[in-house]
Amino acid sequence: MTILVSGGSGLIGRRLISCLEQWGHRVLRLVRSRDLASDRAVYWSTSEGGFDWDDSGSIDAVVHLAGESILGRWTEAKKARIRDSRVGPTGNLCAFLAGMASPPSVLVCASATGFYGNRGDEPLGEASPPGEGFLPRVSRQWEAATEPARDAGIRVVNLRIGMVLTPEGGALAAMRTPFRLGLGGKVGDGRQYMSWITRDDLVSVIRYALESDGLAGPLNAVSPQPVTNAEFTRTLGRVLHRPTPFTVPAFAVRLLFGQMGSDLLLASARVEPDRLREAGFRFAHADLEAALNDLLQAKPSIPAR
Ligand SMILES: NC(=O)c1ccc[n+]([C@@H]2O[C@H](COP(=O)([O-])OP(=O)(O)OC[C@H]3O[C@@H](n4cnc5c(N)ncnc54)[C@H](OP(=O)(O)O)[C@@H]3O)[C@@H](O)[C@H]2O)c1
Repeated sequence: MTILVSGGSGLIGRRLISCLEQWGHRVLRLVRSRDLASDRAVYWSTSEGGFDWDDSGSIDAVVHLAGESILGRWTEAKKARIRDSRVGPTGNLCAFLAGMASPPSVLVCASATGFYGNRGDEPLGEASPPGEGFLPRVSRQWEAATEPARDAGIRVVNLRIGMVLTPEGGALAAMRTPFRLGLGGKVGDGRQYMSWITRDDLVSVIRYALESDGLAGPLNAVSPQPVTNAEFTRTLGRVLHRPTPFTVPAFAVRLLFGQMGSDLLLASARVEPDRLREAGFRFAHADLEAALNDLLQAKPSIPAR
């Protein structure tokens, strides 16, 4: 297949592209600088919605991952960038795909478990309603922005991605050093659920979404074992053979990280992969301890086809 990928330089995109190429697909990247454009990279303007694309070559599938990182202090300007880098560009991309002479058959579009908001220990499947607050609002608008593609008959899968685990970046890389120094500890009361997935399992879920003809709509991309922050903390400490005696109090998290602290680090979302489970999807890492053991003694390999 020829597969168009946005956000290809990111944590997920880099690994996805290398796996897709190893599996024999031709990957075209969407790039945000004309300087990077080539026969393998198409320029798109995320602000204006323009594409340097002559529509001569057909594409079979699209994986849309681009968006401003949600990490960092959520000032009003940062929140605007988080929203505006997702909602408008997704709409523009979908309108562009819908208008192609020969549209791709499938679009796998990133969304996030942030869709569900702060929900205590309520199990959350794809049929659960959205939560309230900034991330649920952005996620809803982001998913709704794929409507033009759906209307054009493109099969759209909205991947509600949980916390992606890889030692190369993101949450696990940020936690590894303090935990290795014996400074790890739970956040707040530690009762908040964390819904996680290893990066290679996520890549396998994306492949599954690309290849499953009958699959459309929201798909929770999380492992079948969401854990509380206290369990995550204990497990990471055990894997690294370090004690985890500390607690970062909730007020300190709010002070240090502002709204991102309360809406992301202290919020609880116990998200279940209902649709993947029903389909019999096989996770390489369903168990957190085994996942962390593998990741932190990483021997890079391409997930099996
Ligand atoms: N990692 C996670 O734990 C996680 C969890 C839930 C959801 N997700 C979602 O999955 C997607 C990919 O995640 P990731 O971890 O790979 O993110 P990432 O490492 O931050 O990469 C995102 C990519 O998006 C592009 N980008 C950055 N800023 C942008 C902006 N202002 N406007 C448009 N594009 C921009 C960049 O790619 P180019 O330079 O190639 O354009 C960047 O490498 C994101 O939408 C993210 O919200 C990730």
